[in-house]
Amino acid sequence: MNTLAIAGKRLTYLRLGTGAPLVLVHGFPLDHSIWEPVIPFLTDCFDLILPDLPGFGGSDSPEPDPVIETYAHALADLLSHLGLEQTFLAGHSMGGYVALAFARLYPRLLRGLALIASQTVADTPERKAGRYATAEQVAAQGAGVVADAMVPKLSVDPAHYPLLNELILCQKPDAIIAGLRAMAGRPDSSSLLSSLNVPLVLVHGQADALISVERAREAAQMVPHAVLVELPEVGHMPMMEAPEQTAAALKRLTYA
Ligand code: MLT
Repeated sequence: MNTLAIAGKRLTYLRLGTGAPLVLVHGFPLDHSIWEPVIPFLTDCFDLILPDLPGFGGSDSPEPDPVIETYAHALADLLSHLGLEQTFLAGHSMGGYVALAFARLYPRLLRGLALIASQTVADTPERKAGRYATAEQVAAQGAGVVADAMVPKLSVDPAHYPLLNELILCQKPDAIIAGLRAMAGRPDSSSLLSSLNVPLVLVHGQADALISVERAREAAQMVPHAVLVELPEVGHMPMMEAPEQTAAALKRLTYA
């Protein structure tokens, strides 16, 4: 892993492959390692950059109460550190919310966007309340609360559960709480998406139990040039459940 210090805080990332830069942003509450299965299919055509979002994996936690834009700023700091003027950006679930914030804040740095098992809509009031309640439970009981609730919903294939469980249990409770609050406060990005003039790829499992494939279909309808790749019998973790198809979909960013 490589490490960058931003305002005294460590941000860890992996970089490998050759070609156009592609930043892969993990979802909640995970880290860069979820992308391992897709790496062998992408290193021949991308300069892959896999950060741990602030607080997750090896990265230090952000200041308390970050907003979704906090994570997008960290990505921009990483690009600047690497001397990259533009990049393709793929975000998984919460990583997609971060990627949309990045697209809003740094449109000139974006060469193409992929949303994997993500959505453009903001939380409903009920969903927001649920996230604040979960944040309180994590503060009292730790990461196990989230692992127990999420792992069975992450994949249709129980073979992935032990790894995902372990990965969530490794995450710092304060990072989980920060991520929950940031997601609860994120804005609706639907109009932003419809105004995007860069390549857009949407990858979604038809059996995603956390974010319905309908969200990706709605997003695809808003953007005439969008490429929608639906994966049958795949849940919320396409990069682990269908790595080859997910990588092939990401390569479509470069065709446009
Ligand atoms: C994620 O996988 O990043 C989260 O489940 C997204 C969410 O809760 O909205």
